[in-house]
Amino acid sequence: REIKTKLEVLNDELSVRNQRNPIEMIKSRVKKPSSIVEKLQRRNLEVSVDSMMANLDDIAGIRVICSFVDDIYAVSEMLTGQDDIKVIAIKDYIKNPKPNGYRSYHMIVSYPVETFSGTKTIRVEIQIRTLAMNFWSTIEHSLQYKYKQHMPDHIREKLSRVADAIIVLDNEMSTVRSEIMDAQNSCQIQTNLVKDILNNIQNLYTIANKRELVKIQDEFYRIYETKDLEQLRRFHSDLDNITEGYHVQAFE
Ligand code: GTP
Ligand code: MG
Repeated sequence: REIKTKLEVLNDELSVRNQRNPIEMIKSRVKKPSSIVEKLQRRNLEVSVDSMMANLDDIAGIRVICSFVDDIYAVSEMLTGQDDIKVIAIKDYIKNPKPNGYRSYHMIVSYPVETFSGTKTIRVEIQIRTLAMNFWSTIEHSLQYKYKQHMPDHIREKLSRVADAIIVLDNEMSTVRSEIMDAQNSCQIQTNLVKDILNNIQNLYTIANKRELVKIQDEFYRIYETKDLEQLRRFHSDLDNITEGYHVQAFE
């Protein structure tokens, strides 16, 4: 719960800074006692609390779902940067997918939890993946469950092909992402230029002659209509020079 809150705070911080939420969804769960016993037995380990604490990394588990692959690495870096979180292991199944096509970024971290009997350092498994990766692994998981160890080859092959399609999907989404960011960025630049230009024109009212001002304004409206950032930039710097000229004159 504490790490989930940390992630929510980081998400809020990033959304203020970048006007966009990197995290779509966070889920946390604690492994059920029956699953803990089953896992210890499956691995031929002693079934005890000590053995559980020593051997299992995923008693506490958090799943973080992002929209874009880049966000996964951003979230992972933010977690790594937190003073109280210590990274124990990383498995990057995005750079190195499993043979069945499974993709996700896994971190095992340790985190100190304050309890009545003092500080206990516990390990947490954090899985970070995109919406598309999550879609695939949820379906694959239920098919694994349905077929146990005997998944038919044609299903296995289909899953593998779908996994490839999901890589393409994630990549396509990333290109759309940078286009969206570019568009937002140039929109911001344009807004600032226009604000600056209007300010400048207003200042010129006190010093320039009327006929020249009308000419400048008409020129501005013409360029404004074109929505061309380069022309707007040039006009902005020309206007700066004109204003500068007036100030020099006024000074003399
Ligand atoms: P366990 O699989 O938990 O015994 O540990 P491990 O050391 O193999 O860790 P790994 O990082 O490979 O997997 C941990 C968790 O990732 C699993 O419990 C699943 O939740 C998820 N996972 C790993 N591989 C797959 C996969 O092939 N399909 C799906 N759906 N989930 C997977
Ligand atoms: Mg495994």
